[in-house]
Amino acid sequence: MARKRIAVLISGRGSNMAALIEAAGDPAYPADIALVLSNVPDAGGLAVAKAKGIATETVDHKSFGKDRDGFERAIQKCLDAHRIDYVCLAGFMRLFTPDFVRQWDGRMLNIHPSLLPAFKGLDTHERAIAEGAKLHGATVHFVVPEVDSGPIIVQAAVPVLKDDTPQTLAARVIKAEHRIYPLALRWLAEGRIRIVDGRCVVEGVDSADGLLVAP
Ligand code: GRF
Repeated sequence: MARKRIAVLISGRGSNMAALIEAAGDPAYPADIALVLSNVPDAGGLAVAKAKGIATETVDHKSFGKDRDGFERAIQKCLDAHRIDYVCLAGFMRLFTPDFVRQWDGRMLNIHPSLLPAFKGLDTHERAIAEGAKLHGATVHFVVPEVDSGPIIVQAAVPVLKDDTPQTLAARVIKAEHRIYPLALRWLAEGRIRIVDGRCVVEGVDSADGLLVAP
């Protein structure tokens, strides 16, 4: 089967992007990172991607002012030009309009640093500690118009330790993120994910496998 062509959308350092690039370096992996696109011209991840010989594009939202449609049309143009099959949001800090999201229905993933549906939005590590959560983690899910929602593909849980700061907890969670994003993309690219009644079923994966407890 031909390898699927993936665009990774970033706004920052791109460590999840780097994890996806590394996974795709394996000839047996079913997807190629064909494009890294950022809305931030100096996003650290762009340099990392370029150094790996991956095509990069910048679509700076600031140059579109309030014209969200124009911004999204510019992104779509890049995705079309690179013949992208699937989009992975990886720390991409802009919200898409429902129309754009629908255009990529079932073909766009996001990673969020919490065990959704807990702690949608920002500052998830601070909030998990403040709430006294004992488990925290990360989620890869399909993107739907509602933010940090959408069918969950895989989650990884990590413990919240007594002396954790948001930084130490974030460091534990990001390691888990780097494990589950390549896994979810693999399943998607292999055509193994079905959405049944709003929930993901992954062919050949027992639901118990969907929970990874990372050290
Ligand atoms: C990650 O924590 C991801 O879950 C969130 O944004 C952060 C991006 O980090 N959506 P990186 O740029 O992948 O290092």
